[in-house]
Amino acid sequence: MSELMRDASGFRLVRTSEAPAEQLIALLQALADDGVSTFSKDVALAREDLAAYRAIMTDREAGRNLPAGMVAYHSFHLQGPDGRLLGTIRLRHLLTSHLAHEGGHIGYAIHPAERGLGFGKLQLQLVLPIARELGLGHMLITCKHENVASAHVIEANGGVLENKVLSWVIPNQWFRRYWITL
Ligand SMILES: CC(C)(COP(=O)(O)OP(=O)(O)OC[C@H]1O[C@@H](n2cnc3c(N)ncnc32)[C@H](O)[C@@H]1OP(=O)(O)O)[C@@H](O)C(=O)NCCC(=O)NCCS
Repeated sequence: MSELMRDASGFRLVRTSEAPAEQLIALLQALADDGVSTFSKDVALAREDLAAYRAIMTDREAGRNLPAGMVAYHSFHLQGPDGRLLGTIRLRHLLTSHLAHEGGHIGYAIHPAERGLGFGKLQLQLVLPIARELGLGHMLITCKHENVASAHVIEANGGVLENKVLSWVIPNQWFRRYWITL
């Protein structure tokens, strides 16, 4: 899989279990500070016990010890040619009914200081062959209706809009549902 994770100019995806410690914590902290709630818990655990955090992420990848309702997922970070970590992307291996409705196969974010530079599009592009290798034929990617940047990232990677749905959990929130054929 590792040769699938790199592009011609040296950008690559690294697993959370292999990401450089200091940069990993700095990235998680920046995303948590930006209000991406998943990362508040992650950064607290990573700061407390990084080895335990890495072990959890390795378990999640293998589908071991998953909390109720959680599906297995790979967690990667976009790393630039200079070694800096620029973002995070999670690839869920399957869909529950909630994920099929509004969560999708993918979750991603780019470091707040690195947005608008094409990294969001590149990070998703690099995950597509990995999803194919995991046996997915189609991938559902969703975003909040008003998240224009995320919609651009998905459309630039071949996402075809199926429909818009009202969230089951966030009042009055519409989600766009896109499919990418792998
Ligand atoms: C969504 C996100 C990952 C996009 O990453 P990014 O690196 O900024 O995106 P890119 O630089 O690859 O830009 C993608 C496109 O969106 C456009 N874009 C970027 N920021 C934008 C903004 N604030 N408003 C409108 N368009 C924007 C870019 O111009 C580009 O358009 P193009 O396809 O016409 O060239 C990033 O904004 C982010 O991390 N947001 C917070 C977390 C989040 O929303 N995650 C997605 C959940 S579904």
